[in-house]
Amino acid sequence: MSDRLRDYGTIRATQDSPILVTGGAGFIGSNFVLDWLAGDRGALVNLDKLTYAGNPANLASVQNIHRYTFVHGDICDSTLVAELFEKHRPRAVIHFAAESHVDRSILRPEAFLKTNVDGTFTLLQAARSYHDSLAGEEQKRFRFLHVSTDEVYGTLSPEDPAFHEETPYAPNSPYAASKAASDHLVRAWVHTYGLPAIVTNCSNNYGPYQFPEKLIPLMIANALQGKALPVYGDGLQVRDWLYVGDHTSALRAVLERGRIGETYNIGGGNQRSNLEVVTMVCELLDELVPKSAFRPHLQLVKYVTDRPGHDRRYAIDARKLEGELGWRPNESFETGLRKTVEWYLENTAWVDSVTSGAYQQWMEQNYSAREPGNATTVETRGAVDAGKGAR
Ligand code: NAD
Ligand code: DAU
Repeated sequence: MSDRLRDYGTIRATQDSPILVTGGAGFIGSNFVLDWLAGDRGALVNLDKLTYAGNPANLASVQNIHRYTFVHGDICDSTLVAELFEKHRPRAVIHFAAESHVDRSILRPEAFLKTNVDGTFTLLQAARSYHDSLAGEEQKRFRFLHVSTDEVYGTLSPEDPAFHEETPYAPNSPYAASKAASDHLVRAWVHTYGLPAIVTNCSNNYGPYQFPEKLIPLMIANALQGKALPVYGDGLQVRDWLYVGDHTSALRAVLERGRIGETYNIGGGNQRSNLEVVTMVCELLDELVPKSAFRPHLQLVKYVTDRPGHDRRYAIDARKLEGELGWRPNESFETGLRKTVEWYLENTAWVDSVTSGAYQQWMEQNYSAREPGNATTVETRGAVDAGKGAR
């Protein structure tokens, strides 16, 4: 951290000017916006391009709240972004906007470089010039919080310790590389220009409003329709799952008390193989939809061709965040997953609204070429048990 920044100390956020959120109509962003506005936390401006992953319906319940402003636009639009800083004079930026799906990055990486790298650069430049224009307390309290991923650290073997903040970057997918690039830009803007930024690297999130292209909501949506549950490779890849509400509470803690120029890893200590996750989802559906014609839902599992360059295992060491900022997750994987499955069962209209023509095209593009000619339904229980050894 540069000397210029050291004097800032930790500043408790005040409530008189808004925060600027990017990508607030996506999965984590909309959970963050809803949680923020549910509390007495001041105003919020949400800049979102509304790509396929952004859904204003997620925020319908707050659209008329006077503390909430929605701006439909692109973080790559430097004129718009500069105007937003000038008009709203935010006390902080929480930067979620990104292309976020690894499989899409493998098939079409261009948008990932555009939004995740160019977009972050544009935002950093605007934030820098805004921060430089501030004075006194306004300048001291300004923060730029960059929301990033554990995928920048690459992959772990079963015996490796979890990722910590000093783990060297080794991104393996176009998505991870674009996020790593954005993290490096943020670091450089802190050290070179004194931008008061903080980076968080979080593990796999799950919960309400997650687009059904990601593992958990895809499995729920497919199982409810009796469609195949596509498990990549042997299904023994391990992810470290965090309920989205625990991610948003961690971000608020970092925003209020995090140290400038630092990185904080965020994770729930819930390592599970993909087969374990799919099995738990299926068992919850068996219980919660007892009349389903597709019970036991586990029979729908179908092994398909693996994701190219598939990272084997992620795990997060969140001790820095817990020790410095006193953050703890509220949900275990069992309680969080139950809440999540219940939410999807109660919100089938939401799922129907996002699984439109474009979604069907994506499913065709990602899964049709993947299916081995003679893919069969399999008994997974033995493989799930074997997967436990992967941790
Ligand atoms: P998401 O794909 O659900 O949502 C992304 C949002 O960004 C959408 O609302 C989209 O419309 C918006 N967006 C995309 N391009 C934009 C642009 N050029 N300008 C303005 N808005 C744009 O993503 P998510 O899962 O909610 O992830 C949010 C952030 O958290 C991302 O930066 C991601 O890398 C990071 N992250 C995600 C996870 C996870 O498990 N989902 C874990 C760790 C970190
Ligand atoms: O680790 C954090 C990252 O988690 C975030 O940065 C990303 O934005 C987010 O998408 C997520 O990346 P993953 O690639 O881990 O998530 P996904 O849900 O796509 O896949 C989770 C695991 O499930 C992974 O090992 C691939 C596997 N999978 C996924 C899909 C969509 C399957 O086996 N079948 C599938 O159909």
